[in-house]
Amino acid sequence: MTNIFEELKTVWVKLSGHSYPIHVGIGAFSILTDELARLNWKGKIGIITDTNVANYYLSACEGIVKKVCPQGYAVHILPAGEEYKNLQQIENICTTMLQSGLDRYGGIIALGGGVVGDTAGYFSASYMRGIPFIQIPTTIVSQVDASIGGKTGVNHPLGKNILGAFHQPHSVIIDLIFLKTLPDKTYREGFAEIIKHGIIADENLFNYCRDNAERLLNKEFNYLLYPVVRSCEIKADIVMKDEKEQNIRAYLNYGHTFGHAFEAVTHYKTFLHGEAVSLGMVTASEVAVQMGYVNENIPILHREVLNKYHLPTHWQGIPIDEVMESMKRDKKTKAGKLRFILPRRIGEVSIVTDVSEELIRQALERIKTD
Ligand SMILES: NC(=O)c1ccc[n+]([C@@H]2O[C@H](COP(=O)([O-])OP(=O)(O)OC[C@H]3O[C@@H](n4cnc5c(N)ncnc54)[C@H](O)[C@@H]3O)[C@@H](O)[C@H]2O)c1
Ligand SMILES: [Zn+2]
Repeated sequence: MTNIFEELKTVWVKLSGHSYPIHVGIGAFSILTDELARLNWKGKIGIITDTNVANYYLSACEGIVKKVCPQGYAVHILPAGEEYKNLQQIENICTTMLQSGLDRYGGIIALGGGVVGDTAGYFSASYMRGIPFIQIPTTIVSQVDASIGGKTGVNHPLGKNILGAFHQPHSVIIDLIFLKTLPDKTYREGFAEIIKHGIIADENLFNYCRDNAERLLNKEFNYLLYPVVRSCEIKADIVMKDEKEQNIRAYLNYGHTFGHAFEAVTHYKTFLHGEAVSLGMVTASEVAVQMGYVNENIPILHREVLNKYHLPTHWQGIPIDEVMESMKRDKKTKAGKLRFILPRRIGEVSIVTDVSEELIRQALERIKTD
């Protein structure tokens, strides 16, 4: 019999004053037993999940917590969906946890996708001025991106992730088996973020995604282990160098300035986040061509890989003026100037602030079809 722990990889995020492991594997979930023992929280445990994830995985999580934590636990199940990532849910979680007697000696387990992770993380950051939490991400986006790096928060009707805090988890447990039950579209969009990691930091990862698309789309998890682990390493490495996004952490926003604009002007109804990021990365690569940073081959490579995951690489029907306006409102604008992350080659990007509006319009025009 093969031991699942042979396939368990651990990446450490080492920050001044706080370090934590990211355990990644096929069947990694069972390491929650050891992690709870290691963290040794004295107070109650709060499990936060959503309706979909609860159906599949809550009882397994409760099983482990019951065994390891005699002090008891409480469960709060959020309604599934981005529209519930708001302050009202924070208040509801707070009510559950106060009623259960969770105090500052306790800790939170966030079991779910990025919405659960961001909401539970923000709750943990503020409850009794901050309690520890474990991230157990169950979507690709949350496994390679949202669960790592300590950005937590909820939306406001006037903007996404407007209320938030940096609050690093105490442990991240990434089990690829959770992805079995993920709807295909949600599974596929996650590859936009993995491919993004390849473009910003690792040509081999990018090529791997190009060469193994069919296996990865078929959820052959032995093939997925490398790109997920590599993504975690890349994100961890950047976070360790620039925890609070003063500088290179912005690389992780590659494709996102355009992507957020595509999402916003279509009122979050047309594109999944990963789809918008896919379009955003192609647009950014076209800007890089216009700036003379890269040759025409770079957008071609972008399209080739993204298309393999059925991610969009051209768009239609949205007035360019609206996209431009939306970008100017983006909170990542620095002192009124648009900042872009642009590729220098596959595996390297840089931050550029002096892109003319005319050039951005040209790039948007190039990926538009009528
Ligand atoms: N904090 C960060 O650094 C960061 C980074 C990237 C994204 N995010 C945030 O993450 C959120 C998006 O995360 P997401 O894409 O994981 O979306 P999500 O959490 O909404 O999950 C997508 C859907 O899949 C369901 N689901 C989750 N896991 C499942 C599983 N294993 N089986 C079946 N269904 C499952 C969920 O219930 C939901 O309906 C956004 O709010 C975004 O802002 C945060
Ligand atoms: Zn993203």
